[in-house]
Amino acid sequence: VSKAYYDQVPYTSQAYIETHPALLEAFGYLHGIDPPPIRSSRVLELGCASGGNLLPIAYSLPESRCLGVDFSERQVARGQKVIQGVGLTNAELRCQSILDFPRDAGPFDYIICHGVYSWVPVEVQDAIMGICRDCMAPNGVAFISFNVLPGWYLKLWLRQALLLLGKDVADPDLRVRRGVEFLDFLVTNEPHASMPISALIKQDLQWLKGRPSSYVLHEYLEEVNDPIYFQEFAARLARHGLVYMADGRVNGINVPNHPVMQRFLTETASDRVLREQYMDFLTNRAFRRALVVRAGQPIDFSQMERRLENMQIMSHCKPASVPPQGTSVPELKFPHPTAGHISTRDNGMMAGLLHLAKAAPQATTVRELLEVIQGGKGMSAEQFAPVRQMMIRELLQYVMTNLAHVYLSPPRFGAVPSEKPRVSALARFCSQSESRVTSLRHEPVDLDAQSAVFVQLCDGTRSVADLVAAMPGANEQMIRSAIGQLVKQALLEA
Ligand SMILES: C[S@@+](CC[C@H](N)C(=O)[O-])C[C@H]1O[C@@H](n2cnc3c(N)ncnc32)[C@H](O)[C@@H]1O
Repeated sequence: VSKAYYDQVPYTSQAYIETHPALLEAFGYLHGIDPPPIRSSRVLELGCASGGNLLPIAYSLPESRCLGVDFSERQVARGQKVIQGVGLTNAELRCQSILDFPRDAGPFDYIICHGVYSWVPVEVQDAIMGICRDCMAPNGVAFISFNVLPGWYLKLWLRQALLLLGKDVADPDLRVRRGVEFLDFLVTNEPHASMPISALIKQDLQWLKGRPSSYVLHEYLEEVNDPIYFQEFAARLARHGLVYMADGRVNGINVPNHPVMQRFLTETASDRVLREQYMDFLTNRAFRRALVVRAGQPIDFSQMERRLENMQIMSHCKPASVPPQGTSVPELKFPHPTAGHISTRDNGMMAGLLHLAKAAPQATTVRELLEVIQGGKGMSAEQFAPVRQMMIRELLQYVMTNLAHVYLSPPRFGAVPSEKPRVSALARFCSQSESRVTSLRHEPVDLDAQSAVFVQLCDGTRSVADLVAAMPGANEQMIRSAIGQLVKQALLEA
């Protein structure tokens, strides 16, 4: 992949919550290892583009030291402007090829490589794993995402079609538009629309139509695009003294919880790698976010439930309806904005999930949550003891299907509206030029023009009355509600 290409069409770099060291630390701990505490950690991101992911990490962990490398001068320069504008002292972006990264620069506690591995030549792929081997702390955690087969076979169909359709078009935007228009015709017009291939590509096409053209270009039209089977990835890790620990996000993919399938997996897949490989076939998986540790780290699934009890938990699931006080309902549904929903008939779990929803986006300790669940069931500690484990298992299931996040060190941000609200300096700075900023929970927040002005005014110097005066047409109630919204979006400093 040419450096010039990334300079010509910069990648829209943004935050990915699953790469934040807080979640790498939490997943490491949950899987039996004891990763370095994140507060004072050293973090490295390979292929960091303009730092849309790394700079919010650095901002959220002021005592950490974060280094990002990328060979695109234009992207790195853009990120360096943010570092200067915000006055970040713990972040550095370096214009350098991954191939030239010095192997004595470690140890790094957390290494992130998102959206790079499958789009670079094999020597760069090798360097990515080599850097993890040479530069990662003994108990460190690396995040490497990559495209997997068999799910990518269908996307390769799209890729080849898009490449062919846009081959003589120089303008990048037009290239994408030309290809998408053709494919759109294919899936919407008879007789093509009734052909099996239309049904197969429809979902992917819908997804890519909603993306900016820079995304489509880098996702589908890169010179190199090399999806591999999970088994092959695991073998490459092994050659570098590394091992797959878990996935940073399961993409909402759930292996069918069916006795026949469970028996098949237990009997046929004797080892972890084979089991994961079968699951990719079962779910036609196309993307993995591998959490990687050194071989020899004590990965231990048997401790998960016990370790979960020492953690904090947060969920974006909200009740579909809130039962009036003192009444009970047979079942309650808690939809999640992106990852499906939780349905429960258990009074205890209902109380627990209502408690989590009220606390969000702040995390709650799992112990406190278990007490609420016990209260919801109206049980004494003795009565609750035999069901406690079942409840923990249920919570773990939510975590493993992205319906909840767990933490050892939860993100810090304002939990209540303040009289002189102060939005994160990074979000204030970025809102001057971008409509998408990053929250202190490392999640994207989209701002319209008016919200961007409000965010910039909330710099900790203005009272509610000052804000009423500064926002045309606003009254106190509107300003208080807008500050409440900033709390919910995790944009306010603690
Ligand atoms: C598809 S973008 C992903 C950016 C970002 N990590 C993300 O997920 O949003 C790939 C990035 O890798 C960088 N890159 C590709 N090959 C590289 C190399 N050999 N050395 C350094 N950076 C490289 C590109 O400049 C680009 O910013």
